[in-house]
Amino acid sequence: MTTFPDGFLWGAATAGHQIEGNNVNSDWWAREQTMPGMELSGDAVDSYHRYAEDIRLLAESGLTSYRFSLEWSRIEPVRGHFSKAELAHYRRMIDACLEHGVTPVVTLQHFTTPQWFAALGGWDSPDAEALFCAFVEQACTILDGVEWVVTMNEPNMQAAIMTAMRHLAASGGDWTSPTVEAEGDDEKKQQHGQFLTYADPEIGRMFTRIHHAARAIVRERTNAKVGWTIAAGALTAAPGGEEKLLQIRYGKEDVYWEGSRGDDFVGVQAYSSQQVDANGLVPHPPHPDNTLVGTAFRPDSLAMAVRHAWEVSEHTPILITENGIATADDVQRIRYTTAALEGLAGTIADGIDVRGYLHWSLLDNFEWGHWEPTFGLISVDRDTFARTPKPSLAWLGKVAARNGFEATEFAA
Ligand code: FCB
Repeated sequence: MTTFPDGFLWGAATAGHQIEGNNVNSDWWAREQTMPGMELSGDAVDSYHRYAEDIRLLAESGLTSYRFSLEWSRIEPVRGHFSKAELAHYRRMIDACLEHGVTPVVTLQHFTTPQWFAALGGWDSPDAEALFCAFVEQACTILDGVEWVVTMNEPNMQAAIMTAMRHLAASGGDWTSPTVEAEGDDEKKQQHGQFLTYADPEIGRMFTRIHHAARAIVRERTNAKVGWTIAAGALTAAPGGEEKLLQIRYGKEDVYWEGSRGDDFVGVQAYSSQQVDANGLVPHPPHPDNTLVGTAFRPDSLAMAVRHAWEVSEHTPILITENGIATADDVQRIRYTTAALEGLAGTIADGIDVRGYLHWSLLDNFEWGHWEPTFGLISVDRDTFARTPKPSLAWLGKVAARNGFEATEFAA
């Protein structure tokens, strides 16, 4: 039996814009109307109205934690005007978790910002820190009883999206989600790879400054543990790529892991792994096991990411805030997650302080411009919004209920 430490959190994660629907004041909503190649989020999966059912399904499966995000653009649709009704909505979500014995993990900002913030220059604006902190202060008013707060989701991916947007605006190109590998000819793939891996450490330092300011507010006003979440590439060096690996990984990741030193925890988010050679990221070959976002089937990436995060963050406690696979095959999802959890158990056995595992995602959802990649433990009919749990939900719930599993029990 592979077992996990007492009190280990077992859950699933979502993000507001991907599931709520009609998030009309956000920068992503505006972007979807204009960016060639993007699908619309529209009603998403209507979790704004159906969150109680979603939390109930999660709890009934045996899972004990739900990570979700607040939508800044709903709470502050106009600069300086905070909606008490929207704050009360998110408080009801927290209460729904607590009533079911589910530990909420609340993300204050998950990729989206209000349109007015974007119009001021977004994270590049000289006022970004003050504007975000004003929102964080308001958010803290509803966080009573919340133990885990994430200031922002994947600032390193947000840096890549900012760069991609600038590039697309200049070139008039088509959008591909940050998590979807570019299709088409090699030149397009190469170009996509270049701008998404673009990583100026200065952007990382800017995000770190804002994160630390938000962290101070959360610490002053709540009793929550506070951290942020980082997209982990689990990058490795191909022969001759050792120097390039260090260079790419610093701006893309390590500056952010460094920024988490002194946090109460750091959120590790890992899906796949990739090699770096002397020229940069190496495209991996087509394979039947490749995921619906074109990445390689690499469940070992989770343990690789945890070991790297532990080292660079100088032993900051770790919460797995995302791990999962875009697949239409639920057996493949269970196979992936079993292997990822076996690797994770190995990191804990080696003394790494891992506090919980939150699967991405509870629901099939809007994958940043695309609907096809399905990461959910639950599928959703997008006309009726009917929820249908997949076998993987019951499977992960059972792992949670026993706080472990037999190594061979779930092998496909
Ligand atoms: C992460 C994002 C999350 C989701 C997964 C697949 O980069 O944080 O919203 O899109 O990838």
